[in-house]
Amino acid sequence: MPNTDVQRPHILRLPRDVVEKIAAGEVIERPANLVKELMENCVDAGATQIEIEFSEGGRSIRIVDNGCGIAKDELKLSIERHTTSKIRRAEDLWSLNSFGFRGEALASIAAVAELSVSSRVADQEKAWKLECHFGQSQDLIETSQALGTEIRVQRLFENVPARLKFLKSESAEHAQIKRVIKSFALMWPQISFKIRQKNELVAFWPASDLQKRIEQVLGLNLSTVTHAYKGLNVQLCYSSPMDVEKTSQNIWIFVQKRWVQDRTIQAAVLESYRNLLMHGEYPTVVVDVRGPPDEVDVNIHPAKSQVKFLNNSVVYSAVYGGLRNALETTVPKKAEVIEPVQPEVEMPLINNTAWDQVHFYQKAAATPAPTSSISTTPQGVWSQLQILGQSNLTYILAQSRKNLILIDQHAAHERIVFERLMKGFKNSNLEVQNFLLPIVLKFEPDYAEALMSLQNSLERIGISVDSMGPETAAVRSAPAILKESAVEKVLCKLAKEKLDLGASFALENTMGDIFATMACHSVIRAGQSLSHEEMKSLLSQMDEFPFSSFCPHGRPVYIEYAFTEIEREFGRIL
Ligand SMILES: Nc1ncnc2c1ncn2[C@@H]1O[C@H](COP(=O)(O)OP(=O)(O)OP(=O)(O)O)[C@@H](O)[C@H]1O
Ligand SMILES: [Mg+2]
Repeated sequence: MPNTDVQRPHILRLPRDVVEKIAAGEVIERPANLVKELMENCVDAGATQIEIEFSEGGRSIRIVDNGCGIAKDELKLSIERHTTSKIRRAEDLWSLNSFGFRGEALASIAAVAELSVSSRVADQEKAWKLECHFGQSQDLIETSQALGTEIRVQRLFENVPARLKFLKSESAEHAQIKRVIKSFALMWPQISFKIRQKNELVAFWPASDLQKRIEQVLGLNLSTVTHAYKGLNVQLCYSSPMDVEKTSQNIWIFVQKRWVQDRTIQAAVLESYRNLLMHGEYPTVVVDVRGPPDEVDVNIHPAKSQVKFLNNSVVYSAVYGGLRNALETTVPKKAEVIEPVQPEVEMPLINNTAWDQVHFYQKAAATPAPTSSISTTPQGVWSQLQILGQSNLTYILAQSRKNLILIDQHAAHERIVFERLMKGFKNSNLEVQNFLLPIVLKFEPDYAEALMSLQNSLERIGISVDSMGPETAAVRSAPAILKESAVEKVLCKLAKEKLDLGASFALENTMGDIFATMACHSVIRAGQSLSHEEMKSLLSQMDEFPFSSFCPHGRPVYIEYAFTEIEREFGRIL
């Protein structure tokens, strides 16, 4: 039975001011969105200087630029909806070079604030100002003003109490605004920025190049690499795994010069640092992806903060390929920083007889024939360390000329096994063990299904698995290094990743994790006594691979104490 109590509502056209407010809400949710829109306009206008002031949690904003300006007879038009100088035809949308294209931003701001736009263009002597108070535009007035545009916004959202209520604290809104400004500064180093917060100059970044701008804005000196892949060009500025952040906030992603939030690229960045950082540690990376407009759609989001790629896996590979390779080849093994004992130098201040037998080592390339009872074969840094003993059945105690070094035996071995697995996989010569009787494992049905969908990929890492029903799988072989007891754990992890990542799952990307798990379950543990020979062999194996300064989970393999620090502690030096 239809409910006869409900009266049929009539369809009516919404009043203009309601329409305006709804539309405004799509473009500007918070003051930071507004700052973004205004800065985009400055950049579109070709400005080389931008000054921005904000206060009251961003409810009061002033932006001045030295761009092309707005002519007197276009001022009124600029704040109307769907008026733009940036596109003319629908086709222009597919080859956009400007940020703006909707002709919405100023109109939206005009509907929810007191807006004033003052501007002077090159071929007009006078400057003109247009004010618009909550949608009511006033008459143009003459004003004085340098070439360019000044926009003032005050009493933002005063006529939209619902929006006001959702604003965060003043400092939270200011922080968000500053992030937006930083994003522009990073992508436009040739523009100078002056920033005032509550009347106080908080930053002045003169025009510069990207490297210096990153230093100005993020306070870090980053390495840079460029990478081209299937039509995409990627520039990556990245921190060493030694410089870590506690949040992912310093992963800055730009596509076609737009600051975007993009999960694929974010994942590619984090994946590149996998096994180099500890859980909860993040790098600082500036990613700049450019590609042909028909591969990247920048128009999908009303606030333009997302983009869509024709092919996500191409952009993933472009970023991961460039960054991972750069990290593997350019990040110095921290061990290289450890100075091995030099032949010419006497170990200072060591009198104990045990110490007198110190071996003097030299670096592989550091020529002249060794002068003492040293190994003559060229060696890597780890094997050049002098082993002092094992401490607490957990750490190898060693020294170089300048440092006392503690090496975590478990982490070190883990790293080695991990790298061997990776190498074996890359060269397709992983050692595989066939089980006499298959290991039968029980899974939740969706896990079992996910696992079976990986059958072919698993085969490539030596794991042969068959379905024995909706919840049962039989494992017939696995890499020799993997203990039988760890097989279930590894497969569970794989199935889970497949479920979490769905179609974008690629075994190569989770390989590091899988091998890390395998390594962790196959190596020497803390609490195991090691002979001198075993310790020595462990250290020389560490020289075989890059990255041996971190275990595959990102924990450090060793810590060191400079003798100078120790001497300071003992009061020998000040
Ligand atoms: N700072 C500025 N300097 C010069 N012209 C400007 C400036 N700000 C706005 N304009 C002019 O006003 C027009 C309207 O700006 P508005 O931001 O509302 O729309 P848009 O940038 O064209 O598109 P979108 O809504 O996508 O930002 C612009 O097309 C531009 O011609
Ligand atoms: Mg705009």
